[in-house]
Amino acid sequence: MEDIIDAIKEIAHRIDEAIKMEDLGYSDSENSSGEDQLKLDVQSDIIIEKVFAKIGRVKDLVSEEKEGVHHLHDDGKYTICYDPLDGSSLVDVNLSVGSIFGIYEGELRAENMVASVYVIYGPRIEMIVAFRGSRPMLYCTRRNHFEEIGEIVLNEKGNQNAPGGTQMNWTPNHKKFVTSLFDEGYRLRYSGGMVPDLHQILLKGGGLFSYPATSDKPDGKLRQLFEVIPFALIYEEAGGQAIDENGNRLMELIPSHPHDTSPCFFGSNYEIEAMKKAYGLN
Ligand code: F6P
Repeated sequence: MEDIIDAIKEIAHRIDEAIKMEDLGYSDSENSSGEDQLKLDVQSDIIIEKVFAKIGRVKDLVSEEKEGVHHLHDDGKYTICYDPLDGSSLVDVNLSVGSIFGIYEGELRAENMVASVYVIYGPRIEMIVAFRGSRPMLYCTRRNHFEEIGEIVLNEKGNQNAPGGTQMNWTPNHKKFVTSLFDEGYRLRYSGGMVPDLHQILLKGGGLFSYPATSDKPDGKLRQLFEVIPFALIYEEAGGQAIDENGNRLMELIPSHPHDTSPCFFGSNYEIEAMKKAYGLN
């Protein structure tokens, strides 16, 4: 797996360079979820494809930016599902964005994910790597090299609240729950980028990120393979929880289509237990 992690480090530097040097405008295409693609989305996707093409253990690639599977190596072992530049619409306002990688062995379902990695492009590049069964590790770049910083462990309870989706489309129950956290002293921390928003909660000890079922998006917005399952592994291995609106573990998801979405709640134990209570799940 070291070759794959090294490849992701190379990808991170190349995408970071593209963010800083390249055209931030729109391309004339849409991704498979019907969203307009930035030139940077397309370019990041190409960078990832080219770097993984050199790694023989990568069998297939599935990109959030494309329909279908891109086959690489017959003898490969892993399928990597990735979102090349998550939150890319924030690039023009100079907020942090990220790349997310879910590494699967076998069928594309959560229980077959063996490792999950995300990279965050902010004032510096950082990366979190989680293997199943061990604590996620944080890496930060200094002088263009990734240095291992240490394990990420969530506190039992945090103080951050990152509620996604348009409030007007929330259910009254969800609204009541989000308000109850603020009434308890939680602070609003939401940039609109999944990577920085979940990264902040992880590094500041805990809290809750939610993207619920809404009236306009009854199945949520975030994609299972590229966003939800990779972060579910990281949150669980950090000692937190990751569930859907029915209290099911996101690590039990079985996507029926690569671009399926799911409502999702990621947090430390206290907030997830509070969510279950508010949703009448225990
Ligand atoms: O999936 C793209 C994305 O930009 C995520 O990074 C982010 O968490 C979410 O959408 C924000 O959506 P909304 O603006 O509806 O809260």
